[in-house]
Amino acid sequence: MQFQLTEEHLAVQQAARDFAQTELLPGVIERDEHQKFPAEQIKKLGELGFMGMMVDPKYGGSGMDTISYVLAMEEISKIDASCSVVMSVNNSLVCWGLETFGNEEQKQKYLVPLAKGEIIGAFLLSEPEAGSDATSQRTIAEDKGDHYLLNGTKNWITNGNSASVYLVMAQTDVAKGHKGINALIVEKNSPGVTVGKKEDKLGIRGSDTHSIMFQDVTVPKENRIGEDGFGFKFAMKTLTGGRIGIAAQALGIASGAYELALKYSKERKAFGTEIMNHQAIAFKLADMATEIEAARLLCLKAAWLKDQHLDYSRASSMAKLFSSEVAMKTTVEAVQVHGGYGYVKEYHVERLMRDAKITQIYEGTSEVQRVVISRDILKD
Ligand code: CAA
Repeated sequence: MQFQLTEEHLAVQQAARDFAQTELLPGVIERDEHQKFPAEQIKKLGELGFMGMMVDPKYGGSGMDTISYVLAMEEISKIDASCSVVMSVNNSLVCWGLETFGNEEQKQKYLVPLAKGEIIGAFLLSEPEAGSDATSQRTIAEDKGDHYLLNGTKNWITNGNSASVYLVMAQTDVAKGHKGINALIVEKNSPGVTVGKKEDKLGIRGSDTHSIMFQDVTVPKENRIGEDGFGFKFAMKTLTGGRIGIAAQALGIASGAYELALKYSKERKAFGTEIMNHQAIAFKLADMATEIEAARLLCLKAAWLKDQHLDYSRASSMAKLFSSEVAMKTTVEAVQVHGGYGYVKEYHVERLMRDAKITQIYEGTSEVQRVVISRDILKD
């Protein structure tokens, strides 16, 4: 067993940390307040190779492992979780899904610009009546011979407006249930695609979340990913990896809040001494540090399993379940350590607390993770 990061891992971690401090920190409060998409920052992340981190260099990616991805996600999320969710969806849902299950033409046409960060992708599974119950897809992809005719509505779509390419799950054969679902690559500028209203969210306010409507959208057959009826498995397998990215995001939100609380507690004086010298604060910091370390180990273990091509489904759900709960708990405590200052925007922890909540909801709620974990342990 090896608990040390390699030189390459440390370099990726440092590059992400530097980027977050110099490029993300300066405007993060303003972007959150005005719900401003971090377009410039995402472009720079693409130039650094962070939008297609795990993609083979022959498809425009950086050819890094999942551990590097977790390290980068943690550092970016410490400062700006709105930016890291854009990065996460593009890396682990869109790029990974296309590289693993797409054909050569699809990779050349779509994966290459996505991995280079020249364009952004989105993953369209959720619907008004299909959230956790993802098999209940109502969006229809009617088989018309050489193309599909797409009709329906998708909800809660991260990168809904900023993406150029959508991976859309839709039902082709209702009688076959989830085995009749297909995954289709749909270009956002196709006739019949409408971007709905932007959601006014509690957290990750810099990212754009929209409903997307499809009305008689023609999708060429060559844009289907995998065999006919592979769409639900495609979504599940892709989300299994995506959950490692969101676990790392939650870890970053938690460690960002912890670092701020630690710094503040060394500066702020009360009752004649720095507040870290009071056990009421010191014990909070001890709990935060311990839980964050446990979350980090779960994230890295899931990433390592994925890199070793071993089964990582249970591990990714455990990492997401635990890290998102740690993110919630740590950010609430970080606000408490800051007292009144924690309740205002300038000190950053209130934003991290708002951002933390979504990690218990998207890419499968905590309840969905418990379903995945419990089903898996019952097989033991
Ligand atoms: N890998 C491969 N196959 C899988 C799988 C996995 N991880 N999980 C399920 N499957 C397969 C099953 O083997 C089964 O196939 P067979 O019928 O051939 O045996 C099929 O999929 C159906 O599986 P289940 O019977 O387990 O399905 P279920 O209806 O009981 O649902 C669930 C299981 C875990 C709750 C699943 O529906 C789920 O994950 N729901 C949550 C969806 C989700 O995460 N949505 C997030 C939206 S995307 C997002 O948030 C992105 C963003 O913008 C940030």
